[in-house]
Amino acid sequence: LFSAVEMAPRDPILGLNEAYNADPRPTKVNLGVGVYFTDEGKIPLLRAVQEAEKARLAAAPPRGYLPMEGIAAYDQAVQGLLFGKDSPLLAEGRVVTAQSLGGTGALKIGADFLKRLYPDAKVAISDPSWENHRALFESANFEVITYPYYDAPTHGVKFDAMLEALRGYAPNTIIVLHACCHNPTGVDLTVDQWKQVAAVCGERKLVPFLDLAYQGFADGIEPDGAAVRVFVESGQSFFIASSFSKSFSLYGERVGALSIVTGAKDESARVLSQIKRVIRTNYSNPPTHGGSVVASVLNSPELRAMWEEELAGMRDRIKEMRHALVDKLAAKGVKQDFSFVKAQRGMFSYSGLNAQQVERLREEHGIYAVSTGRICVAALNTRNIDAVVNAIAAVL
Ligand code: LMR
Repeated sequence: LFSAVEMAPRDPILGLNEAYNADPRPTKVNLGVGVYFTDEGKIPLLRAVQEAEKARLAAAPPRGYLPMEGIAAYDQAVQGLLFGKDSPLLAEGRVVTAQSLGGTGALKIGADFLKRLYPDAKVAISDPSWENHRALFESANFEVITYPYYDAPTHGVKFDAMLEALRGYAPNTIIVLHACCHNPTGVDLTVDQWKQVAAVCGERKLVPFLDLAYQGFADGIEPDGAAVRVFVESGQSFFIASSFSKSFSLYGERVGALSIVTGAKDESARVLSQIKRVIRTNYSNPPTHGGSVVASVLNSPELRAMWEEELAGMRDRIKEMRHALVDKLAAKGVKQDFSFVKAQRGMFSYSGLNAQQVERLREEHGIYAVSTGRICVAALNTRNIDAVVNAIAAVL
């Protein structure tokens, strides 16, 4: 039956976890996958989450099937976080939100829906983008193209080229945009640039699809949602795939959401009916635990404040590690200027290391990074940073 099955290539990010787990070296460091670790090298279980879980355990709720679109209180909490709970969009019934299996699940529901709506549209992702964007939209049978984004020499954005590319796309082209903490580069657009992008999307009738997986990891919940507000103000319809994997440190619970801004309430009802159909034919309905925990935290003023404080702690520690990495590389006598790492935002740094250097990091030093040179700064800590600095200095 399976004699013709070929070996699939290893996933460029999750495949690294497999290789890392199989590595017997005690000094190994995993800077591959985008996961936040504490200074002790542990994935934190946030206090706010623990409180909500305690209450949930005590209440012992039954585990019936959820609605296809998930827990209503969760979907509302997501909307409040993304748009502000007093947003006129919500009052007008112009937002459809469905709980999803992480941010990946949100992208996939959106992709399947869009394929039915615009079967001939292309999907444009940034160059470079999260490895899974291309694979995910291709698996939904879209042709995926790239728009210029990262400018290696300046460690900035090729903004004029990006805008020019967007201007040249056919109507209904789906534009995947990293709303904050661009993955993999850590280089974001300014608010003014977002306004220009939104204007072009509106003029050209493109379909903006914002990927917001790292809200709270650059400057905070509110400022990191700036791109969403810009698109709201532009008055157009758009998609958002959001995730609590990172911001709640709930990676394995798969808590995300797809939100779609529509033109009117009756459009929302029809769009939701189609989204439910996509969900039903993929996995019927989402799981209960993660969504109810996040809803409890977001809907309790005390737990929400606790969560925001813990999120700020994660954000600050990442920034400390960025500074430590740059300063220690300089102190080590590395000639190459790494100061740009301090300005990058979110969990990642596009380090500029090439594939060969990344391979040497792994083979000779047990340090795992994505072959593009992306390193997860959120996995650095005061115990492993010297080993990482020494190894980078050695491979340079
Ligand atoms: C990453 O980019 O490392 C994360 O988003 C995890 C993943 O699923 O790839």
